[in-house]
Amino acid sequence: MYLRVLGSAAGGGFPQWNCNCPRCKGLRDGSLRARARTQSSIAVSANGLDWLLINASPDILQQIRDNPVLQPERAQRDSGIAAVLLMDAQIDHVTGLLMLRERQTPLPLLATREVLSDIGTGFPITSILSHYCGVQPHVLVCDGYPLGVPGLPGLELSAVPLDSKPPPYSPFRGSPRQGDNIGVVLSNPTNGRKIFYAPGLGQMTPQLHALMAGCEVVLVDGTFWCADEMQRLGLSSKTAFDMGHLPQSGAGGMLEHLARLPAGVRKVLIHINNTNPILDEDSPERAELTAAGVELAHDGMEILF
Ligand code: MLT
Ligand code: MN
Ligand code: ZN
Repeated sequence: MYLRVLGSAAGGGFPQWNCNCPRCKGLRDGSLRARARTQSSIAVSANGLDWLLINASPDILQQIRDNPVLQPERAQRDSGIAAVLLMDAQIDHVTGLLMLRERQTPLPLLATREVLSDIGTGFPITSILSHYCGVQPHVLVCDGYPLGVPGLPGLELSAVPLDSKPPPYSPFRGSPRQGDNIGVVLSNPTNGRKIFYAPGLGQMTPQLHALMAGCEVVLVDGTFWCADEMQRLGLSSKTAFDMGHLPQSGAGGMLEHLARLPAGVRKVLIHINNTNPILDEDSPERAELTAAGVELAHDGMEILF
């Protein structure tokens, strides 16, 4: 089974178009040792030809250019993207659906009822797409049972509800519902290996910890290093928690939780905001991450499982 990271940054990407923070500026002017990153998306495949796109980012066309496995090969109109699965209805995870409108058949789209309702009304992508290729919705239920993906034999997944936040445009931003944000366990049924993917994870729970402990790899929320990161930079009045993300550092932070996982579990942070100091390869925060045995996902990273 193949997993490919298409975009490892949070919303805005790195560098962000309008951001002149020390990191975005440093990457642009070459004074910072760091990699550019596109917005949050991964793809998985059992046969290396047909892929499940997990999140459709605003950078999807660039990501398809950068990843030839997703490009047309077998027919006049074709794509390696066989279906799309959404983790939430945030702009960085759904906007790319509009870029897939030239498909000749409805796009198979797996998402919870809550996410499908947000992208049918508040940000009416599926209504708009109905005038183009249309979507074939598959409602995901977070019951922990493994399910197959239509058209993608050999891949099994199960959806896990997460405490986080629906997007700012959602009428439920202030009163999140189960199903607004999910994580996914991707399994290879032939060898039992599992990967847990959760780019928006606001809170750890004992159940989540147990689930992560049973995976070969966890690819989890790397948005913010500290809770008041945006506030300190004067970029927002909101904390990481207000935005539905568990910061890495500090008591109860992501690094503490990752340290309690069994030694064999590979730990990778993904969905990294452009304000996060870990992007700077020479920063003390990056050194702390490395010392803790935690990796940083990068665009083009491939994981076999
Ligand atoms: C988030 O997950 O909070 C987003 O990256 C926000 C956004 O896309 O603007
Ligand atoms: Mn996001
Ligand atoms: Zn920046």
